Amino acid sequence: SKVLVINGPNLNLLGMREPHIYGALTLEQINQNLSQKGTEWGVECVFFQSNSEGELINRIHQAMGNIDYIIINAGAYTHTSIAIRDALLGVAIPFIEVHLSNVHQREAFRHHSYLADKAVAVICGLGAFGYEAALSYIAKQS
Ligand code: DQA
Repeated sequence: SKVLVINGPNLNLLGMREPHIYGALTLEQINQNLSQKGTEWGVECVFFQSNSEGELINRIHQAMGNIDYIIINAGAYTHTSIAIRDALLGVAIPFIEVHLSNVHQREAFRHHSYLADKAVAVICGLGAFGYEAALSYIAKQS
């Protein structure tokens, strides 16, 4: 199966951005590891990052009919974007929501997600391993 890994705003800064919260790995390192694990587990990964809500929505739309599963860390859009929620529902592709940090330990405005009630699962607080855990789950389904 084919998995689209989407990262939203500011996640291009991983490695330099608040490393005490988000860890020392860059997004490229995280994605390289996922690619490798995917090969091992028989799932193909494709990657997309954008800081723009519209571009994230367009990429989700393009996934219709050619992607089996989405892993998404929508960053701060998690807490604000009905439009990304609607895009995910629109294409009807199952998705897992990932956050590096445990959003529930943090500011109250990070506690609500517009995606969580429609996600197959939500993983937060495991750092970069959260993406790998999501991919491992998906690999076991397919
Ligand atoms: C995040 C948590 C969000 O609240 C924050 O806006 C991010 C990253 C995480 O991975 O922990 O940009 O999604």
